[in-house]
Amino acid sequence: MPKPLNVIVACTENRVIGRDGRPAWSLPEDTAFFHTQTAGQIVVLGRICFETWPAAVRDGRRPVVVSRRRDLARPGVAVAPSLSVALEIAETLPGEIYICGGQKIYEETLALPASRPLRLYLTLLHAEIPGDRFFPDWRQQRWTEISRRESADKNFRYTFLALDRIPT
Ligand SMILES: NC(=O)c1ccc[n+]([C@@H]2O[C@H](COP(=O)([O-])OP(=O)(O)OC[C@H]3O[C@@H](n4cnc5c(N)ncnc54)[C@H](OP(=O)(O)O)[C@@H]3O)[C@@H](O)[C@H]2O)c1
Repeated sequence: MPKPLNVIVACTENRVIGRDGRPAWSLPEDTAFFHTQTAGQIVVLGRICFETWPAAVRDGRRPVVVSRRRDLARPGVAVAPSLSVALEIAETLPGEIYICGGQKIYEETLALPASRPLRLYLTLLHAEIPGDRFFPDWRQQRWTEISRRESADKNFRYTFLALDRIPT
């Protein structure tokens, strides 16, 4: 049996995840959650995410970067030309697999057969913000809610959700 996949993302009500190669907002509580959740684990991420997150290699994380470039590989950093190869590499590494984006990687992951165990850690930001990268429409799939926690800061209200995809 392959390892279950954990997808971790923060998105707005209009499913925006980023703009101009950066996050489209600042949410310190969510950033802290993301860092804690992924520490010591395998993080599968696209090249732009990797380049903009130097801390990916800290705290015992094992990055597997999806890129056609080969020059990114170094001790502790694996590089794969596709998501499927990245997942094959991740199976050989210790720890849980966290899919950390960006857009295409999230799309391909949610398009995997519903028989593949998948947990979604979704921080849903209750706002509509302009952006150029989006999370796929997870609401089109069937989920069991594992946990929910409401929170807020001086700018936003947001909800931490953990959802398990219902296998078909
Ligand atoms: N809110 C959140 O939780 C969250 C999470 C992640 C990202 N983001 C945001 O999303 C944006 C970055 O994501 P992005 O979608 O623009 O880029 P990305 O996925 O990080 O990187 C894109 C690059 O990764 C490689 N790649 C990605 N998918 C691939 C695939 N299926 N097969 C082969 N190669 C693939 C390619 O690299 P090469 O060109 O090197 O071949 C591609 O040019 C930023 O705005 C970031 O802040 C937000």
